[in-house]
Amino acid sequence: MSRDPAPPAAGSGRADATATAPASPAGPTADFWQQRFASGRTPWDRGEVNPALEPLIARGAFPAGALVLVPGCGAGHEVARLAAAGCRVLAVDYAPGAVALTRERLVHEGLRAQVIEADLLEWTPPAPLDAIWDQACLCALHPDRWIAYATRLAHWTSPGGLLVLLAVQAEREGRRQGFIEGPPYHCDANAMRALFPSTAWKWPKPPYESRAHRSGFAELQLLLTRAG
Ligand SMILES: C[S@@+](CC[C@H](N)C(=O)[O-])C[C@H]1O[C@@H](n2cnc3c(N)ncnc32)[C@H](O)[C@@H]1O
Repeated sequence: MSRDPAPPAAGSGRADATATAPASPAGPTADFWQQRFASGRTPWDRGEVNPALEPLIARGAFPAGALVLVPGCGAGHEVARLAAAGCRVLAVDYAPGAVALTRERLVHEGLRAQVIEADLLEWTPPAPLDAIWDQACLCALHPDRWIAYATRLAHWTSPGGLLVLLAVQAEREGRRQGFIEGPPYHCDANAMRALFPSTAWKWPKPPYESRAHRSGFAELQLLLTRAG
């Protein structure tokens, strides 16, 4: 986990903003994640399919034939489960270790999915998506990149399409002083509402399901439907 200083205060002026602009995008890189896979330090990995997925498959949220994106697929447990449900799965991750693990899992289980090594902030899907399963992907991106990512998800999703956003609740003490800490970066419900506005996404009423994770952080389950 890293701690970045808060951005300069509003009103600091264009010259200051230019002087402090980072040379490269903030937050973890593909190399950072690849190191984690190479060294086996993957505390986010349950070692099994997220139990949140099964009830959603059972109630028809991921019908056979649906084009489903799993961004930041990691070791691919959910990719395999969705493929087994008959979905046409696009699994994207920019860490080669994650891509290899997901491909191995699919081969081992005799399943098919398209596993793509790419940066989600550069890649584009080949067709509009019926559903997205975002499990600890948004929280893996520095908040500086959230608007770009959320905008892409909105463009990619068909009207009526489903976004399952497992928003990691990673509140830490430093947040009160404006430190941006992560990954995982805290996915506050208010921030999620701003990123996925109700003009573009239908939000069910709270309370939302929250599931503890062995890492100590909880996942808030947001089921958003793309407005038509
Ligand atoms: C915290 S892990 C979660 C992995 C998996 N979804 C899970 O829950 O087990 C975040 C994953 O997102 C990938 N990732 C982060 N930023 C990415 C980006 N810009 N493009 C593609 N993959 C990215 C990382 O390589 C890593 O596999």
